[in-house]
Amino acid sequence: MRIYMDTARQGQACPAAMQVECEFARLAFEDPYLCSLPFLQHGARVWTEQRQREFPELSCWNGSHRLHEQMALALGTRDADRVFVASQSARLVRTACRLMFRQCRSVLTTDLNWPAWQQIANEEAQKHHGRIHIAELKDLAIRGNASPQDFNELLQSQFLQHDCDGLFIPSVSSLGIRLAVAPLLRQLRNFRSLRFAVVDGAQALGHIPVSDVIESCDVFIAGCHKWLQAHLPLGIALTGNGLTTEQFASLAMNSDTSSDCHDPLLRFSQELRTERLQKYSETVNVLPLLTANSTLRAASKALNTITDSLTVRQTNRQNVADLLHDSPWCPVASTSMDCGILVVEPRQADRWNPEAITAAMHQRGISLSVYPDRKLRLSMPSQILTESELQFLRDSFTAVSQQMM
Ligand SMILES: Cc1ncc(COP(=O)(O)O)c(C=O)c1O
Repeated sequence: MRIYMDTARQGQACPAAMQVECEFARLAFEDPYLCSLPFLQHGARVWTEQRQREFPELSCWNGSHRLHEQMALALGTRDADRVFVASQSARLVRTACRLMFRQCRSVLTTDLNWPAWQQIANEEAQKHHGRIHIAELKDLAIRGNASPQDFNELLQSQFLQHDCDGLFIPSVSSLGIRLAVAPLLRQLRNFRSLRFAVVDGAQALGHIPVSDVIESCDVFIAGCHKWLQAHLPLGIALTGNGLTTEQFASLAMNSDTSSDCHDPLLRFSQELRTERLQKYSETVNVLPLLTANSTLRAASKALNTITDSLTVRQTNRQNVADLLHDSPWCPVASTSMDCGILVVEPRQADRWNPEAITAAMHQRGISLSVYPDRKLRLSMPSQILTESELQFLRDSFTAVSQQMM
């Protein structure tokens, strides 16, 4: 038996993404010409019917504009112009932070922010002579029993205390701490001093409902390669109002190739979508667009029922936490971890090596993430775990703890 409970970095591929990758490799061998500019722009309808039958999953590609429309719908809006895709989410974060620090003097972030993205915010602050204040929430979330409302009160008071006008926070942190972003943004906008809010949705998209968050922030950034299961890295940014969309597009399209905001796939996909192709531009890997397209098609029903799958994930989370009761593993119980991620720590194990735990779990058929401080992160599947799967998890945790002692 194997149980996948990771979704950190590059998550598991869904069947549709896997099939696109296989067909694309076959196409590159048999007839690479099929991946022509007209195909990328207008979709598989430019192929003969025979070719469409030979590559059934790739035949679902209807062009870059349709992909942007599909993403907009998945994110809860109809405006495809607000969607930007890039080969690296970090480029989108850089662009968003640059726009933020052009408008804000003082930005509130948290110690739950993803370190590489926090670093980008720090660099942009320095470049624009802005300030960053980091609210400390992590210990409170893990050791205390602070609720999302308590966090909002704390964030709100720090925002006012430090005279902030910008905000950069995750919707769900890598450790599964879920912030009540939409109510927080509503409260802060009442003070009228909030000028720009960037939300990290990397662990949220495909996992929890995000439409209220998206409607309340200026830029929402996520990727298709985690909970959506498109496998190949593809960052998505959804911008807020028309002005932010214009400014984002302008930075993305007008940065020269040496700029750290430049992303070749972002530029190419915008050119395809708006039919303004530069004839002698850079060659880019377009496969992430194709895998994202098929994944979104396959997931479109599931995205409408995200609340239902979250309920299943939460039931799984409770069942796994219950089975670790009275074991050498301690589930971290926190009211702010209201999502499909369970964090578990060894009860007494200062010497247990994180890499050894990861390897031993994987050897027994369980994929999960283990952090340097020995916290195990388990992302719950969207199908209910059966009795035999729960028994298998119980046996595996027991065996791994015995192996570590
Ligand atoms: C909360 C959070 N934000 C951002 C990232 C980075 O995302 P990406 O894989 O798109 O670089 C991660 C990675 O796991 C994450 O957990």
